[in-house]
Amino acid sequence: MTNIRQKDQTIWLDPDYPDAVRIIDQRLLPHNYAEMTVGNVETMAVAIKTMAVRGAGCIGVSAGFGMYLAALETKGLGASQADVRLKEAAETLTATRPTATNLSWAVDRQLDGLLNIDDGSARIQTALGIAQDIMDEDIASCHRIGEIGLRLIRELHEKLGRTVNILTHCNAGWLAFVKHGSATAPMYAAQRAGIPIHVFVGESRPRNQGALTAWEMRNAGIDHTYLVDSAIGHVIQRGEVDIIFTGADRVSMSGDVANKIGTYLRALAANENGVPFYVNFPSSTLDPYSFDGIGEIEIEERDSDEVTHIRSEIDGKRVAAPIVSAGTSARNPAFDVTPHRLITGLITERGLCEATPEAVAASFPDYVVRGS
Ligand code: MRU
Repeated sequence: MTNIRQKDQTIWLDPDYPDAVRIIDQRLLPHNYAEMTVGNVETMAVAIKTMAVRGAGCIGVSAGFGMYLAALETKGLGASQADVRLKEAAETLTATRPTATNLSWAVDRQLDGLLNIDDGSARIQTALGIAQDIMDEDIASCHRIGEIGLRLIRELHEKLGRTVNILTHCNAGWLAFVKHGSATAPMYAAQRAGIPIHVFVGESRPRNQGALTAWEMRNAGIDHTYLVDSAIGHVIQRGEVDIIFTGADRVSMSGDVANKIGTYLRALAANENGVPFYVNFPSSTLDPYSFDGIGEIEIEERDSDEVTHIRSEIDGKRVAAPIVSAGTSARNPAFDVTPHRLITGLITERGLCEATPEAVAASFPDYVVRGS
């Protein structure tokens, strides 16, 4: 198993690979670290769909660069032919994963900038600029979320006079963005500030993204404990958790949060036991077109094989071991929606916002697209 963080971001441009994008292949982590070259939009779509890149922010940035790769392929075309190709690429990318808003947000932002440009070189430069802006904003937003979350951790440390116990779910760490992460940014900030913390990392079956968070924590030297999902209610009930930070894949204008399956149960346990539950996300995850998260957010259903089998690596060989008898049917909803009444606060790069329709509208007036 590798404990080596060889790169400090998930996606980047490398002069040694012109006209391509480089990514960390997250399918191999935490067992192996490998980088991958993505040279065209189809490969980027496969990378997103098969979760070589994953996590809302990282998916959005990858889609932004996917559109740049598509623009490269339109070099010799005038506006009308290029626009057809760009719209096809946009559809291909958007179809890969339905829940994380960042994906369609990034694709739409590229389309807004790229359509009707007649000159191929100008089109490519514009696409590159937009992709880089999306990436830079992701990094800056997560950094800012870290500063805001740090204030909460500092307050708790001063009040309790001991190590602050933080719980997180899935991986909303730097692997799920470009750098820093959203749920993890306050943890890294606390470490830099010298505030003692301990992090409970939930396994997050079926794909065990918690193992990615544990890999991040181990690489960063942050004290942490890995728990199976079923143990989370127990540690919360026993007072072992002071604060919870999760990420988000889509947030509705009412403050409802779609996040990795199991988030809702953690929020229920937190609410029942008076533990503050914060959701951290860049504003690119806020969906101006949804209000009732439970009724309106599409939940990705993934292959049931992920539930009926455990994937790992043994002696350098990737294996998928069955854990139920053949023929057992299974379902695999990848996300759930936590209603805003269970959420203590939303942390974005704009600040700390109450999870209420009124507070979201006040913090994001530029997102209000209908009378909600
Ligand atoms: O299915 P994934 O791995 O792409 O899921 C995304 C997540 O890691 C979590 O839901 C996370 O908390 C939000 S993404 C920043």
